Amino acid sequence: MSASVTPLRQGAQPNDLEPFWMPFTANRQFKRLPRMLVSAQDMHYVASDGRRILDGTSGLWCVNAGHGRKRIVEAVQRQVAKLDFAPTFQMGHPLPFELAGRLVQFMDGHFDHVFFTNSGSESVDTALKIAIAYQRAIGQGTRTRLIGRERGYHGVGFGGISVGGIVKNRMFFGGLLNGVDHLPHTHDLEKNAFSRGEPQWGAHLADELERLVALHDASTIAAVIVEPVAGSTGVLVPPKGYLARLREICDRHGILLIFDEVITGYGRLGKPFAVDYFGVRPDLITTAKGLTNGTVPMGAVFARRGIYDAFMDAPDNAIELFHGYTYSGHPVAAAAGLATLDVYKEEGLFDRAAELAPYWEDAVHSLKGARHVIDLRNIGLVAGIELEPRPGKPTARAFESFVKAFEKDLLIRVTGDIIALSPPLIVDKKQIDRMFDTVRDVLKEVA
Ligand SMILES: Cc1ncc(COP(=O)(O)O)c(C=O)c1O
Repeated sequence: MSASVTPLRQGAQPNDLEPFWMPFTANRQFKRLPRMLVSAQDMHYVASDGRRILDGTSGLWCVNAGHGRKRIVEAVQRQVAKLDFAPTFQMGHPLPFELAGRLVQFMDGHFDHVFFTNSGSESVDTALKIAIAYQRAIGQGTRTRLIGRERGYHGVGFGGISVGGIVKNRMFFGGLLNGVDHLPHTHDLEKNAFSRGEPQWGAHLADELERLVALHDASTIAAVIVEPVAGSTGVLVPPKGYLARLREICDRHGILLIFDEVITGYGRLGKPFAVDYFGVRPDLITTAKGLTNGTVPMGAVFARRGIYDAFMDAPDNAIELFHGYTYSGHPVAAAAGLATLDVYKEEGLFDRAAELAPYWEDAVHSLKGARHVIDLRNIGLVAGIELEPRPGKPTARAFESFVKAFEKDLLIRVTGDIIALSPPLIVDKKQIDRMFDTVRDVLKEVA
């Protein structure tokens, strides 16, 4: 070992848990009592102690077709052996072109270009940048302001946390982007608790955008970004008519509307995208996760007709958009994406999700009256189960529920005092019953 190489920390072992600084994790607590997953197939993980764990969360909202799908695995294996990497800056290779072509087919001609990224966070930053650059390209260069929403989650890039609305994701990281404002969130337990699907109350909250326009002037605002259904802050389903109203206000003022469909995309709501579910069309759509069934990191931003064209006025040899990632359209990711779309289509998984949604809804609402439960929400194959916080100890009850559920062979996700469930779309009714029976049992045991 040369003198310039730092030796391993004393005591570090090859299987030491310490060096991995885990994301969004209580590191010390985890490393004291680790929960390790070592393999997966279809609806189940296998834990390091050999238990089969029912996946109630599609990993992290991404494994929509279930785990270890042969077609996807083989496509990735073939591709990595054939062309492991090739650049997409001033060069090309076939698969991302093919994938982009397949993706725009979902959009009935309304969205005609796709920009590839490696994650939801990158998709968000890409969409925000395209929005501002587009406004400039059409002669609206004063429009640089971005509007997000309280309780929004748009990943962890500086753009995403600036428009996002989660205090802990923002407060440690300095001044963030300039010129950002936020709409109020739409969650109201008094008005909407135990709603099935879209709540009746709250469409008028979209009118807050008019207030922000009055405050800042439309000529300063480039875009509004929202999740059609806020996922990470606890499954907040939009009030009936809310998204259409946002669209109207954006149209009135020349503001672009961005839907962050990193969770809602690729079948989660029983339609290809939330755009189809709600019948409201934004200008840009951010996606990731289910695009490759979680197998290889990849994201995609959809641009509606006209946006790409607005950049094409530059001289023919000029780069039109100064943006991109080394791995934009990575061959292995693109192969995974194409195989994933094949699986979704051949197995009719989006329709399957729609067919299961009423059964799912009843199962969710069967928890009414269960211990600690103060709200139940559902849409597509997503559920939010809100718990009464333990006095003086917010989040403790939900976290203990998560640990107990894992002990009972079920993977759930918790955020604040809310349990979120979003199983792979291959889930069956018996597995749905098992998920909610387990949650009910867990809530009986958790103080
Ligand atoms: C709506 C939304 N946007 C963006 C992201 C960030 O995605 P990633 O973790 O792939 O960067 C997420 C992740 O959960 C998300 O739910």
